[in-house]
Amino acid sequence: MSPGIITASYIGASALFILALSGLSNQETARRGNFYGMLGMGLALCVTIFGLVTDNQFLLIAGMVVGGVIGWVLAKRVEMTQMPELVAILHSLVGLAAVFVGYANALDHGTAELTDIEKTIHAVETYIGVLIGAVTVAGSLTAYLKLSGKIGGKPVQLPGRHLFNLALLLGSIWLGVVYAEQMFVDGGMPALVVMTLLALLFGVHMVIAIGGADMPVVVSMLNSYSGWAAAAMGFMLGNDLLIVVGALVGSSGAILSYIMCKAMNRKFINVILGGFGSKPAGTATSVVGDVGDVRSIEAEETAELLRNAKEVMIIPGYGMAVAQAQHTVYEITKKLKNSGVNVRFGIHPVAGRMPGHMNVLLAEAKVPYDIVFEMDEINDNFPNVDVSVVIGANDIVNPAAQDVPDSPIAGMPVLEPWNGTTTIVLKRGMSTGYAGVDNPLFYKENTRMLFGDAKDRVDEILQFLSK
Ligand code: TAP
Repeated sequence: MSPGIITASYIGASALFILALSGLSNQETARRGNFYGMLGMGLALCVTIFGLVTDNQFLLIAGMVVGGVIGWVLAKRVEMTQMPELVAILHSLVGLAAVFVGYANALDHGTAELTDIEKTIHAVETYIGVLIGAVTVAGSLTAYLKLSGKIGGKPVQLPGRHLFNLALLLGSIWLGVVYAEQMFVDGGMPALVVMTLLALLFGVHMVIAIGGADMPVVVSMLNSYSGWAAAAMGFMLGNDLLIVVGALVGSSGAILSYIMCKAMNRKFINVILGGFGSKPAGTATSVVGDVGDVRSIEAEETAELLRNAKEVMIIPGYGMAVAQAQHTVYEITKKLKNSGVNVRFGIHPVAGRMPGHMNVLLAEAKVPYDIVFEMDEINDNFPNVDVSVVIGANDIVNPAAQDVPDSPIAGMPVLEPWNGTTTIVLKRGMSTGYAGVDNPLFYKENTRMLFGDAKDRVDEILQFLSK
């Protein structure tokens, strides 16, 4: 294949990846965005395999088929709630690839024709690629083990951990200098191997210190690292497309981490330094003031309240995803809309367990986009809302974020259903949400608790509405 065709195809693939990202930024265009991404990746793979690779194509394709089948089966099996784990384990593969490419590069003796300065640049690229890759692989594997519950989710914080991290960083920089010098003498492998071990240790240590509600930020940060690892591979291999794609993934992951930190009112640096979620659930903060008793309600009365309302706001959370109640919720929405009730959905940016989790569920249930609103668009409307229905949500409607200054979620923006006439909360019991914080909303005068599995309860409400 001529270099011109390869370059043109790489530019085309880069453009498709940019279109993919822009499509993914909006749920109406997300499907198209995914399609562009697949097209770009298909083009990039074809051009690389048939245009750049000169031999062993059969081996390459066989490896891709095996990997593709494993990926297909895993993706088919994975539940929506396990998506963060899947993403974490996939990031670890990108990191692993960067380490392997780095070692292959370091062992490659085809640098004889390079000048000394070029060899040094090559060594630095290899070293940085292996460093980022090793941090990514160890960090992502630890995140996977934590998210899947295979190891404890609580933050593990060693005494003097910041000093330990600093020592690892300084050690890696020093080893980098040693490697760049030794490479001319004997290849510098010992320095590279020791740095890899330090980077693996750093990856584990960094993620193990982070707990609770901060894990999604860590996954998105590791997504960013995996992008930079891919970009580093691009430099090592002299492949422009890998550099562009790596930079796109690296920067979009960093932007997503920033947006999530903002939505949780967490400083990114505090997330990295870890510790959130270390207090036992329920003791992190107590409910403020005289809380009184909770007032429960039954499905029939709930249906009656909804039928008589003019404005209804539905606030879905993690529990709706667990109960898979979204389809029935949409049936209820249609029924109410048909009888003239204005039903809207209020979505918190970190509702559920992954970015856009609720949007995905609602889209799956075919809820029209024009009745789904982001928190910022909707929060001022609550005083006009007759009935808010909180379905399996907890932290995202917790007034302690505003009222309790020492709460772990203090300052996190939350939806404010208590400003409406009546709030109905569907959950199984009185347990806390992800952040382990009690919720004063449940004890408010105008709140009613509808206890039970969200799916069972919404089924009952639908039955009463259908009578
Ligand atoms: P949570 O605060 O986790 O609360 C979910 C509630 O759903 C629980 O209190 C639980 O109470 C209830 N529930 C669970 N299963 C249920 C079922 N089958 N039927 C009815 N209720 C059920 O969820 P949220 O309000 O969506 O807030 C999200 C939290 O997760 C935030 O703290 C956020 O920071 C964090 N987080 C977010 C993300 C992203 S990016 N979205 C990722 C990870 C973590 P019962 O046990 O009493 O039923």
